[in-house]
Amino acid sequence: MASNMPATRDLLETPVQPTDAAVTVQGERFRRYLSAERIKKRVAEMGKTIARDYATTTPILVSVLNGAFMYTADLMRAIDTDCEIDFIKLSSYGDEKVSSGEVRELKSVDAELEGRDVLVVEDIVDTGLSMEFMKRRLAEYNPASLRVSTLLHKPTATEPDLTLDYVGFRIPDLFVIGYGLDYGQLARNLSDIYILDEG
Ligand code: PRP
Repeated sequence: MASNMPATRDLLETPVQPTDAAVTVQGERFRRYLSAERIKKRVAEMGKTIARDYATTTPILVSVLNGAFMYTADLMRAIDTDCEIDFIKLSSYGDEKVSSGEVRELKSVDAELEGRDVLVVEDIVDTGLSMEFMKRRLAEYNPASLRVSTLLHKPTATEPDLTLDYVGFRIPDLFVIGYGLDYGQLARNLSDIYILDEG
């Protein structure tokens, strides 16, 4: 970790309740949980904090495809300082709602990460297997620092020792879609985030 980088601020939000607005995807009903407006506000806050923390360096964001593409585009625009971008592609869920437990790297990063300040950009940390895999994988490149950001985190589902530096929203352990997150590859284009309606 670069020694001149200040400590990360706590970015956790206040709890939210699902609304009555709903969508049906592949026969399953989901209720609107985070509005596009609320996401936008939170991502702007995260961008500001990240810009402050990396004010003296040019970080490289490593976005985890596919799910993080929308969050990455918005987060990067909210970072008002020099930064670069690269992509890695992982898969562990396929078209299912439950992790296969096996993380596969489908595309590796192209940029030279040695000596760089690397910030992973994930849409969601669920079991944490993908993020653990990412941290191990990217550490192999000997970056100067390696931090991770995730828009969503399911604390009750995740291995508690996993350190997350920038978290947008803590959410319950229910399947979520929208804003880049899919169910069977559908629903990534929804502007709001929806949560599985178990009722
Ligand atoms: C999703 C998501 C994260 C991962 C989180 O990816 O984008 O990368 O799962 O889950 P975990 O914490 O349980 O590992 P997915 O495998 O569904 O691929 P996708 O990003 O292409 O949708």
